[in-house]
Amino acid sequence: MLAIIGGTGLTQLPALTITHRQVIRTPYGEPSGPLTFGELDGHPVIFLARHGHGHTIPPHLVNYRANIWALQSQKVSHVVSVASVGGMHPDLAPGCLAVPDQIIDYTHGRETTFADYGEKPVTHLDFTWPYCEDMRQRCGAALTKAGEGFMNGGIYASVQGPRLETKAEIDRLVKDGADMVGMTGMPEAYLAREIGLCYAAIAVSVNWAAGRGDSSTGISPDVIEATLNAVMGRLRTVLVNLACMSYGAPIPPRNGGVCTA
Ligand code: HPA
Repeated sequence: MLAIIGGTGLTQLPALTITHRQVIRTPYGEPSGPLTFGELDGHPVIFLARHGHGHTIPPHLVNYRANIWALQSQKVSHVVSVASVGGMHPDLAPGCLAVPDQIIDYTHGRETTFADYGEKPVTHLDFTWPYCEDMRQRCGAALTKAGEGFMNGGIYASVQGPRLETKAEIDRLVKDGADMVGMTGMPEAYLAREIGLCYAAIAVSVNWAAGRGDSSTGISPDVIEATLNAVMGRLRTVLVNLACMSYGAPIPPRNGGVCTA
């Protein structure tokens, strides 16, 4: 089954016919909220608002482990994250979309693994390609079917937040090769890999990153909100297209590159 993790601007899915909500208890604490079970165009999906129903949980306090564990416990096989980003690549003006294929993790102090408690030998899981290619392809097909152009690939810089960046920080991210910057990509993508979920993100550029384009002197929250409102309507069709695909069994974590320390 498909799960949708909604980020900023997507705390609920108006197109979703809700069947029920379920509070899931996890060994890692509380998820961001109850899971919403429902149907998009007759196809079952589970929806979770990453920042909570009222958007009250900042990126550095999201319980990523509980969220991912909760989804996996409900027979989810595939996850799409809808993630707002600041655009750094010239093709990522506000309102543009991307399906990134790489991540650089600049976050700190977050719980980054399910394997904390010494129950299993330490393994170093392959993360060369951090997103599940099957889910990336599905996102691309769903976007194309909806008539949306998008950047296929690109490097997502995952930063700590909740503040936006300085111009110098964005200059550094650009030098590092990043194309877009957001606050929630990690450890979410890695935890999904660790637990065997096929995970990809649709990144929505909601502003030029600090010091770029019309953000040269600052980033206006009004611009972010207006862009979010405009784009989220378009994404509904994309998510319905994704829900219409058939989803098989969860993909087991890749073993390539594992070594036992
Ligand atoms: N920086 C970091 N995260 C973001 C931004 C940004 O400019 N826009 C939306 N999420």
